[in-house]
Amino acid sequence: MPHCLNVYSLPTLVTPEELVGGTVVVIDVLRASTTIIHALEAGAVEVIPCLEVEEARRIAATLPRSQVVLGGERGGLRIDGFDLGNSPLEYEPASVGGKTVVFTTTNGTRAMNQCRLAERVLIGAFVNAAAIVEQLAERSPISLVCAGSGGDITRDDVLFAGLLVDRLQRRSATPWQLNAQAITARENWLASFAVPMAIGAEKLPPPLLADQLRRSLAGQKLVSIGLEDDLYAAAQLDRFPIVPVLDTKSFRIGPMDK
Ligand code: MLT
Repeated sequence: MPHCLNVYSLPTLVTPEELVGGTVVVIDVLRASTTIIHALEAGAVEVIPCLEVEEARRIAATLPRSQVVLGGERGGLRIDGFDLGNSPLEYEPASVGGKTVVFTTTNGTRAMNQCRLAERVLIGAFVNAAAIVEQLAERSPISLVCAGSGGDITRDDVLFAGLLVDRLQRRSATPWQLNAQAITARENWLASFAVPMAIGAEKLPPPLLADQLRRSLAGQKLVSIGLEDDLYAAAQLDRFPIVPVLDTKSFRIGPMDK
């Protein structure tokens, strides 16, 4: 039986019902996925993703102030009255260690909501790529759902989906049944880094990956508001072993049990 692996370059290209019973990776490289991984790696107890700003404020108000951090963005920038924005490097032990992060972003939290009927929902980005591949091996069906940017496809997400397709194919001898977007994403990934791979770069140097991220729609938006450093944080391939898991019943994200 071939393993089934589908890429959806936007959340609207798949219905929640189509994801029932499968494993999903939600991908928002710039920046919600990358930031959530940083938050949990820095010792946040959990992340509560919210669709709306007011919902986030309401949930945060039910928790003791010393144990909660309000984080997220609108238009890429920190929301008025929030503690943190959506820059991965803001999420460090001093700001989020031991706390609950109540989090809302424009695209990432919406993509998670689209995946609410899946059996298992993981949060992936370049910074935890190897750990995600480890979790996906031998699973089927797998769906890689890209958050996009303002309803449009963005290259940062598709490149990461392509990397996952490539690594999974190389890892398992089992035949893979890929949808057309999965084939395209993998070709995109391979074509983007043909030269460094050919000269034997063991690990992709972050500046090369950051350069590709800069050219994406989401990357261009970050550059235009002066947040270029976030591209470098997102380009640290395989930096963290952590795999965030969205509990679809409580709608909370925590680190996968080791
Ligand atoms: C989002 O979830 O909408 C993004 O991560 C956007 C951003 O960080 O600017």
